[in-house]
Amino acid sequence: MIKQTLMCPNCKNKVTIQGVPGEKISITCPKCNNLGVFTFPQEKTKDKSYMIKVNNLTKIYDGLKAVDNVSFKINRGEIFGFLGPNGAGKTTTIQAILGLIQVNSGEIKINGLSISKKGKEAKKHVGYLPEKVAFYDNLTALQNLNFYAEMKNASKDECKPLIHEFGLSEAVDKKVGKFSKGMIQRLGMARAVLGNPTILILDEPSGGLDPRGVVLIREKIREMRDKGATIFVSSHILSEIQEVCDRVGIINNGVLVAKDSVSELSTKLNLKPVISVELEKMLDAVAESVKKVKGVEKVEIKGKNIDIICEPKTKSKVIVAIEKAGGNIVNLKTKEPSLEEVFMRYTGG
Ligand SMILES: Nc1ncnc2c1ncn2[C@@H]1O[C@H](COP(=O)(O)OP(=O)(O)OP(=O)(O)O)[C@@H](O)[C@H]1O
Ligand SMILES: [Mg+2]
Repeated sequence: MIKQTLMCPNCKNKVTIQGVPGEKISITCPKCNNLGVFTFPQEKTKDKSYMIKVNNLTKIYDGLKAVDNVSFKINRGEIFGFLGPNGAGKTTTIQAILGLIQVNSGEIKINGLSISKKGKEAKKHVGYLPEKVAFYDNLTALQNLNFYAEMKNASKDECKPLIHEFGLSEAVDKKVGKFSKGMIQRLGMARAVLGNPTILILDEPSGGLDPRGVVLIREKIREMRDKGATIFVSSHILSEIQEVCDRVGIINNGVLVAKDSVSELSTKLNLKPVISVELEKMLDAVAESVKKVKGVEKVEIKGKNIDIICEPKTKSKVIVAIEKAGGNIVNLKTKEPSLEEVFMRYTGG
């Protein structure tokens, strides 16, 4: 219920009214009988557009700044990739977001709620895959998930289908103590998405997984995003992150060295795409012609193939130049700059 004091535009008399957010009411001024309509404002949620907000986070371990004054915001409904080499501070940042460690300074909010002040409420709709996934060894996969379903207030009916979805059908009644690393990781993912969380925090989800498992998780991430979830995923396996993420943050030695969309990072770093053209027959005139196109940086000939590094907008001019020089194009592929290249430039690898 909201209380609001209004002033009659006619006689300036003040009236106090009560209503619920979004409610539209007709009011008659008790003094001059002037008739008006008022709509109560929608309830304000703090930091409405951001699902996760990290402000000036610092965590020191034994005199070492594991996370050094890191700030970033994750928009509602986006997939944010958090990248960095081993020991960069990814897990520490995640643990801080979830209020699992005491930080030296900084403010963290999940869906507008402070993790230090309202941790339980803030984490209510968060699914988490920790770096080191742990379960009760002497309980089966199903018993474990049932236990977490109860803790999360999720329906136990979800457990079996999730175990199947993550390729563990054969192991549903097997004790987790006998699981391989990849199987535990798959069960960890099932636990993270249990109860359909609106925020998913995944610390190295592909750790220990076979290629099929990696694809399974990538698809699940996309599916959760399509359902409206916000996803924060850390990794150092760049090619995988590159495929699913809307934006990335790159952390090195505790310092956030970049945050942007993959394509914007590439532009800023002047990383250019490679156009790979297969010709029916290689002609000297083709290479000469392509080299003369403005915006072409490098030309490399390998048999019937020609690789051209150039500005993205130069691509069509390059094709015209090849055809003008008598080249007959059989196949054409464009390889966008990889996050690997972006990562190497930022972390000095
Ligand atoms: N509990 C701890 N006690 C002491 N130092 C720690 C602790 N946890 C992390 N550190 C240190 O903090 C730094 C960041 O570690 P963190 O685990 O956050 O890195 P990471 O980016 O997750 O690395 P990885 O890719 O290997 O998982 C490292 O130097 C690490 O040794
Ligand atoms: Mg880690």
